[in-house]
Amino acid sequence: MAELHVLDHPLIHHKLSILRDKNTGVKEFREIVGEISTLMCYEATRNLPTVETTVETPVAPAVVRTLGDQKITIVPILRAGLGMVDPMLKLLPSARVGHIGLFRDPDTHEPIKYYCKMPDDIAESAVIIVDPMLATGGSASAAIDFIKEYGCKSITLVDIIAAPEGVNVIRRDHPDVDIYVAAVDEKLNDHAYIVPGLGDAGDRIFGTK
Ligand code: PRP
Ligand code: URA
Repeated sequence: MAELHVLDHPLIHHKLSILRDKNTGVKEFREIVGEISTLMCYEATRNLPTVETTVETPVAPAVVRTLGDQKITIVPILRAGLGMVDPMLKLLPSARVGHIGLFRDPDTHEPIKYYCKMPDDIAESAVIIVDPMLATGGSASAAIDFIKEYGCKSITLVDIIAAPEGVNVIRRDHPDVDIYVAAVDEKLNDHAYIVPGLGDAGDRIFGTK
């Protein structure tokens, strides 16, 4: 069974407190989403395979470990996931980026797909799906289904805030996918928003409300 990793760290707690505050403006919200994403990227890549090689330091040969030619693809779920991509690329500059466009139907809360573009070699890639919010789990589960259709074997899901309902859906539908979150909140409300959550992540990142 894949693991749920809740990143319990003072820096993450502090930054999350700023994201949750309804008085935090667009600029700061976007910056903090980026900072948390970079911290989460560090943890979510902990199990990537490394290969041994040798480099010459100015003093002597050193046996070192590198990522070798491991392919990595970051897949944001549009739109809000876009806010997590560039901060992750700072740590993974050679990663590819695939996009999945999904939005939740406002009445049924079911995900509706409107866009998809993946790198050609995604099947051999370690895939990291990013989205700030895991609410009902419908969007993330559909995104993982879709990526699995390409034959991907290594898939990791990174969300900033999750509801218990969403975590349960991913663990039920995709027990092979590790989940990294900064917090698991209390519940969903009647509109399938995370309580207490941070509101609508896409609107807060892009300033659309
Ligand atoms: C939000 C969020 C997730 C989804 C989570 O996107 O960014 O993709 O909802 O909800 P779920 O777990 O119940 O599927 P939204 O549909 O609001 O689209 P947006 O990113 O374009 O704002
Ligand atoms: N999408 C969001 O942006 N926020 C929520 O609380 C739930 C879904």
